[in-house]
Amino acid sequence: MTHTLSGKVALVTGGARGIGAAIAKAFAAEGAAVAITYHEHGAEASSVVADVVAAGSRIAAIKADVATEEDATASVRETVARFGALDILVNNAGVILEKPLLETTTADFDWLMSINLRGTFMTGREAIRHMVSAGSGRVVNIASDLGYFGREQFSVYCASKAAILNLTKSWAKEFAPNILVNAIAPGPIDTDMLDLANMSPEWRKKEEMIPMARIGQPKEVAAAAVFLAGPSASFMTGQTIDPNGGSVMP
Ligand SMILES: NC(=O)c1ccc[n+]([C@@H]2O[C@H](COP(=O)([O-])OP(=O)(O)OC[C@H]3O[C@@H](n4cnc5c(N)ncnc54)[C@H](O)[C@@H]3O)[C@@H](O)[C@H]2O)c1
Repeated sequence: MTHTLSGKVALVTGGARGIGAAIAKAFAAEGAAVAITYHEHGAEASSVVADVVAAGSRIAAIKADVATEEDATASVRETVARFGALDILVNNAGVILEKPLLETTTADFDWLMSINLRGTFMTGREAIRHMVSAGSGRVVNIASDLGYFGREQFSVYCASKAAILNLTKSWAKEFAPNILVNAIAPGPIDTDMLDLANMSPEWRKKEEMIPMARIGQPKEVAAAAVFLAGPSASFMTGQTIDPNGGSVMP
């Protein structure tokens, strides 16, 4: 079996569960040494570490809040200190907010943007600083299909993801050809964020009203991340891959 990420070092923010954990495990299975950050999910982070170590790969869990500048920069520094390099950053950490606009406070807006957008900006800037000195690197930003089409009661989340799609293109232009920056915009994926167990049957039906008529799995997003981080994506920058079951065809 070929290991497409052998010798590479990756940092996955919010890698304790869901899509981030699937990406961390997939990168490790492809031969990368992986650092994951976690904020509140320490037990889940330990379980990802145990799984990856049991599979014979190298992994470190770093406690870091992406919304805090000191933590965001420290997570990059610690990854380099631990594994000697940083070749791949996945900006995955994110939160969602379902609220009618007229009930959404400025504090709600600042909270969500500080994690989804400012967190991506701060971790990305620090990682790219390192990649510029190293002369190469890959950045993969996790956006959402909602970043294309918006959704009632989710406007702040949708706006944060639309901004991530745009930031991806600007960074791609600014740092080509040595640092390749791409995004993934998943459709509905079975994680705690989607909360299928507590979703009403009507809403679940709505989520499944896409051409593939099902909700995706985290590993189906991880496959896109492995591609974008690996040698096969050597002519890809400023692009978005859409594992979304056909929910939107941008
Ligand atoms: N699940 C979906 O349907 C879906 C669809 C499109 C995009 N996404 C995006 O995928 C990414 C991962 O989401 P998920 O579905 O795995 O949800 P999740 O809630 O399981 O995972 C989110 C992760 O982000 C971490 N996180 C949250 N705030 C943080 C902070 N301040 N600092 C560090 N880490 C923090 C959480 O601890 C968690 O590990 C998010 O950016 C999300 O917006 C998810």
